[in-house]
Amino acid sequence: MKSPEFIQLHHDSTEEVRQELLKGLTANPLPGGAEVSPKFLYDALGSRLFEAITELPEYYPTRVEAAIFSTHAQAMASHIPKGATLIDLGAGNCGKAAKLFVHLAPARYVAVDISVDFLRDALASLQRQYPAIDMVGVGLDFSHTLDLPAQVGAADDGARVLFYPGSSIGNFTPEQALVFLRQVRNACGPVAGSGLLIGVDLVKGIDELEAAYDDALGVTAAFNRNLLSNVNRMVGSDLRLADWAHRALFNTAESRIEMHLEALRDVLVQWPGGSRAFSQGERIHTENSYKWTVAGFSQLLCEAGFTQPTVWTDAQTPEHGRFAVLWAGTNA
Ligand code: AVI
Repeated sequence: MKSPEFIQLHHDSTEEVRQELLKGLTANPLPGGAEVSPKFLYDALGSRLFEAITELPEYYPTRVEAAIFSTHAQAMASHIPKGATLIDLGAGNCGKAAKLFVHLAPARYVAVDISVDFLRDALASLQRQYPAIDMVGVGLDFSHTLDLPAQVGAADDGARVLFYPGSSIGNFTPEQALVFLRQVRNACGPVAGSGLLIGVDLVKGIDELEAAYDDALGVTAAFNRNLLSNVNRMVGSDLRLADWAHRALFNTAESRIEMHLEALRDVLVQWPGGSRAFSQGERIHTENSYKWTVAGFSQLLCEAGFTQPTVWTDAQTPEHGRFAVLWAGTNA
């Protein structure tokens, strides 16, 4: 009986994290103001709040993407060679990839997430269900550099299919997304038939977008405000949740939802060795979620070295879709 292999590559130093957070918190009001990276939304509670967000009636991306995968899985599989290595970026509970196993029939499944501990149970149970597939769990923060370990597969090992669902690409700026996609193209290797299967959220009406990031139940507000507790734990600061309100606004010029925390009154935040005063109304920028057009994202994929993608959406014509799944190959 096979068992999955686990490799932890990523270890954040506490001091590095502290310095990164303090740099963002103390940034001048102009030009950009204070900011905290969205990765600090995902402590244990934040990850559970995000799971809850995906079940909210207003948060359409998860549901619409799942419907696109279940309707078009067969068509997607027709582009992808059987026996490939399926590399799942941000795998979490591995549920999205697992649903594709019967269609894609991969020889190897590599689940990548920031910590292997998130992957252990899911991968062990998948291995019992699919004993013929080699399974590897990799703990890696690929938000800066996608540097996959050798265990992912030797270059002559067959095609590689990189899988990046969930519209997480939207949390990168377009410039960062291009750098990241070039690294993904590189990670696809030289074997014909390799490529990227990716989920992308599309531009749509402001009301629908803002509701998806500011739901009536207040789960997204809790998700955003919980970041303050995480920051307090990391840097020893005294941010009080009651002083801050959740704001989610669509920035049309940048084509992105911005999440901010807005000071409800004048606030002095203190931590060992420093402090920062925020005036009422001042904001901490916590997340961008870019919304793409099919044409714009296809062009980005081509700039990153992929072929013109095949696109599936929830509408008859791709440009009218709410969400898109794209397959972009590597061989022109
Ligand atoms: C993880 N990521 C794709 C989500 C998004 O839609 O940008 C994170 C999220 N933030 C608020 N709601 C969901």
